Amino acid sequence: LPIAVLVSGSGSNLQSIIDRIEEGALDAEIKLVISNKASAYGIQRAKDHDIPYRVLLHTDYPSREAFDQAMVDAIHEAGVTDEGLVVMAGFMRMVTPVFLKAFANRVMNIHPALLPSFAGVNGQADAADYGVKISGCTVHFVDEQMDHGPVIIQAAVPCQAGETEDELGPRILKLEHRVFPQAIQWFAENRLRIENRHVELRVAGR
Ligand code: GRF
Repeated sequence: LPIAVLVSGSGSNLQSIIDRIEEGALDAEIKLVISNKASAYGIQRAKDHDIPYRVLLHTDYPSREAFDQAMVDAIHEAGVTDEGLVVMAGFMRMVTPVFLKAFANRVMNIHPALLPSFAGVNGQADAADYGVKISGCTVHFVDEQMDHGPVIIQAAVPCQAGETEDELGPRILKLEHRVFPQAIQWFAENRLRIENRHVELRVAGR
């Protein structure tokens, strides 16, 4: 499965995908890493594994649509088209219909909370502050709303009273590193079907 990975930060989810591919547990090839931040450590991870990368700064473009079109062009040029998948791994920007039309039902995101609870950029902190007893992470297909599209897989962690983001966040991140490659592998096996906003996981080989 040809994939493009979009990052904005440390890229530990990118690393988990790279590791599963190198172990032979994930049947994908990263054709391109795009970062919208020049300082993102994810870029270094791409370099370390000889993966092509591009830094596309949204500040260089006149509109969200123009930026999205530049990403679409770069991803297409890298060989990720109708057969491939785009993976948002800590990519801190909303995409527009320009992007979603180019990759209809082919964009996944990971969110560090159990959606629809605690959408937004501070999922771990918001869950810790609220005092929920369980949080976790969600991999979902991306639609036009933030942290909203059809859910593919979720994983849960217990939360302790008085815990902060610093304690909860790393435990959630560990789960992210497990479930994101799993979701991508299911996609690679053509086992995910979206119907009425629900994702069905089909039995392998059917
Ligand atoms: C993860 O917690 C992800 O869920 C969130 O941003 C963080 C990215 O971490 N959207 P990394 O860049 O993969 O290390």
